[in-house]
Amino acid sequence: MSLTAHPDIKEVLLPQKKIQQRIRELGSEITSDYAGKCPTLVGVLKGCVMFLPDLLKNISIDCSVDFICLSSYSGTYSTGIVRILLDLRENIQGRDVLIVEDIVDSGLTLGYLFENLRTRRPRSLEICTLLDKPDCRKVHIPIKYTGFTVPDRFVVGYGLDYHEIYRNLPYVGVLKKSVPGYPGPCRTARTKKQRAGSF
Ligand code: IMP
Repeated sequence: MSLTAHPDIKEVLLPQKKIQQRIRELGSEITSDYAGKCPTLVGVLKGCVMFLPDLLKNISIDCSVDFICLSSYSGTYSTGIVRILLDLRENIQGRDVLIVEDIVDSGLTLGYLFENLRTRRPRSLEICTLLDKPDCRKVHIPIKYTGFTVPDRFVVGYGLDYHEIYRNLPYVGVLKKSVPGYPGPCRTARTKKQRAGSF
C-alpha cells in the first residue's frame, strides 16, 4: 500500500505506473484485434476523461472517437433508469464500435448503453473498461477488455469521481470512509429508507 498526498484517500489501489503499463497492453491487444478495421471508440463521459486519451495513444491503427454521456444515478445509487444526456455525433451503423468505460459496477448503466447502441446496428460492439467490480454485478455484461478487477470498495481518481471531485488524481485510490456521505459497498444495495421511496 502506498500513501498519498490527498487527505481523503485511504490507500492507492492502482499507482500511475501500473495503470499506464496495463493501458499499453490493452492498446496493443486492441491494435491487433482490430487490424485492418477502423473502429469507433465511444467514450462514456465523464469517467473516461483520463482513460480514453491514454488508451488512444497506445492504439496504432486508424480509429475514430465519439462520446456519450449518461446519467443513471440518484445521489450515489444506480437506479437502472438511464438517461442519455449527450448522444453520439456519428452514425455507428456498420461500424466496429468499442465502448470505453471507467468502471463497471452493477452493470445497469452499461447494460442499457449496450442494448441502445446495438439497436443502431453497428457491425460489432464490444466493451473496454478500465475497472471491473464484479462483486456488485446485477446484470451480465459482456466485457471484452478489462484493465483491472477491483474489490467492492468505492474508488476515485484517474477519471473516477465522488460528487465530481478527485477525477484529476493520477492514480486510483480508495476513498476514506470518513468523507461525508461515503457511498459504501455495492451502491445498488438500497437501504430500507431508500426502498421506502426516497428515489
Ligand atoms: P453501474 O451502473 O452501477 O455499473 O455504474 C456505472 C457508473 O457508476 C460508472 O460509470 C461510474 O461513473 C460510477 N461508479 C460505479 N462505481 C464507482 C466507484 O467505485 N467510484 C466512482 N464511480 C463509480
